[in-house]
Amino acid sequence: MSEQASHGTEGDRVRIFDTSLRDGEQSPGISLNRQEKVEIAHQLSRLGVDVIEAGFPITSPGDFESVQAIAREVHGPVICGLARTGAQDIDAAWNAVKDSERPRIHTFIATSDIHIERKLQTTREDVKGQARAAVAHAKQYTDDVEFSPEDGSRSEVEFMAEVIQIALDEGATTINVPDTVGYTMPHEYAAMFEELYRLVPDLRNVVVSVHCHNDLGLAVSNSLAGLTAGCRQVECAVNGIGERAGNASLEEIVMLLHTRQSSLGLWTGANTREIARTSRLISRLTGYAVQPNKAIVGRNAFAHEAGIHQDGVLKERTTYEIMDATTIGLETNSIVLGKHSGRHALRKALEELGFVVEGPALNTAFRRFKEIADKKKKVTALDLEAIVSDEMRESESAYGLEWFDVEASSSRSPLARVGVRLPSGEVVEGSFTGDGPVDAFFSALNAATGHEGRLKEYHVSAVTGGRDALGEVSVLLELGGVLATGQGVATDILEASGRAYLRAITNALAEASQQAAEGAVPTVA
Ligand code: KIV
Ligand code: ZN
Repeated sequence: MSEQASHGTEGDRVRIFDTSLRDGEQSPGISLNRQEKVEIAHQLSRLGVDVIEAGFPITSPGDFESVQAIAREVHGPVICGLARTGAQDIDAAWNAVKDSERPRIHTFIATSDIHIERKLQTTREDVKGQARAAVAHAKQYTDDVEFSPEDGSRSEVEFMAEVIQIALDEGATTINVPDTVGYTMPHEYAAMFEELYRLVPDLRNVVVSVHCHNDLGLAVSNSLAGLTAGCRQVECAVNGIGERAGNASLEEIVMLLHTRQSSLGLWTGANTREIARTSRLISRLTGYAVQPNKAIVGRNAFAHEAGIHQDGVLKERTTYEIMDATTIGLETNSIVLGKHSGRHALRKALEELGFVVEGPALNTAFRRFKEIADKKKKVTALDLEAIVSDEMRESESAYGLEWFDVEASSSRSPLARVGVRLPSGEVVEGSFTGDGPVDAFFSALNAATGHEGRLKEYHVSAVTGGRDALGEVSVLLELGGVLATGQGVATDILEASGRAYLRAITNALAEASQQAAEGAVPTVA
């Protein structure tokens, strides 16, 4: 049975804490630039999330600057920065988020014995001291302090309760208990919270939060178990991206609470109509494709294959659909531009999509639009989204595709010649005869740039249906031991491939120089 959602009481409101830009960005190969992160944060704000965990500012100057830009430019949600317990970490997190209207510092330390003994190589007493000092330090900066006992679900609950009590005594306002390694089961996670509420009655005066990883495919179920046990914040990531098997998927949580509100009695402030668009943006910018049968946002999530189902849906949609596609923002946009549409129409259409594009950015967008409209009769909202995201990826310090020439035939080996603009502005050429046209093309790009990128994955998809659809390419390559993704959009698949490949090279080089400059900073799950 399909159910309609409405807002309930404040006590039943579940805060959506999005960590796509922090835990999600820790997925291998994802490298988002500052502009892309800011755009994602704007979209998360349109989606109506309560908190955006924008990054882990101590880890690199790039991460710091991205969090700072989001704190300055994105309004509405709380903007949160992650920090270990050290004063330097907390200072960096604060300096990055302090310009937000609603800054939050999120500090964490592991409480499981395995993490304390093996990873931190310290004692329980020291962990208590670090937790106390961290929350007290963060509190000097802001009232809004979140504390997480990392690997909480594998921690001895009595000890974790002691650490949580310390964090509360020092003024933490949110306590998040993560299932860091995705090990727990719903009944265990719920029982753990019940025990924590019993051992630490003060938890009833703050927001208690769930943060679940998906190693056993239980992240959403475990999150739900925590919410039914009394938690009122859920940490999640769009499309379920995140360390290893990922985090609980935001869209699944939001639509679960929305669709089953009358049973659960819980609600969120999310604007569900922005879900599809947010999912597309994240997938496009991270290069992480969404599996076709993924709940809520997979392309088959609202498709009916069996004749008996199609027949039922035609007679009455709710026979086989528990959600309406329009609720998540599918099939709602009617924007169509053509080659006679002017700059003004383009700007209006972009505004309708939530992009504010002015000045030189509008000129570039208009030029790209015209190129595409010349080859494609109708330019739709999906095409515009793809073009704008593609432009966002451009950066001055990147390698750019100036021209290419690829000859392919069934009777001789393919030959590719390319012109590549170096970050210095100089244009260099390269050529290669390869096994196939794409192989020859990528090898020619290696020759021109002087970098030996090794292709690991190559995906091509169409932005819309139809033979004239824009092609979207995502590549994953390895360069000098670093994995990086790159994406490209164009009416010509080879052009999209070249753009994607050069962006992956640019991203890999940026990542390698960041690693060299910073040394390794321990990551978290
Ligand atoms: O999974 C985890 O434990 C984390 C913490 C930093 C909250 O990501
Ligand atoms: Zn995590």
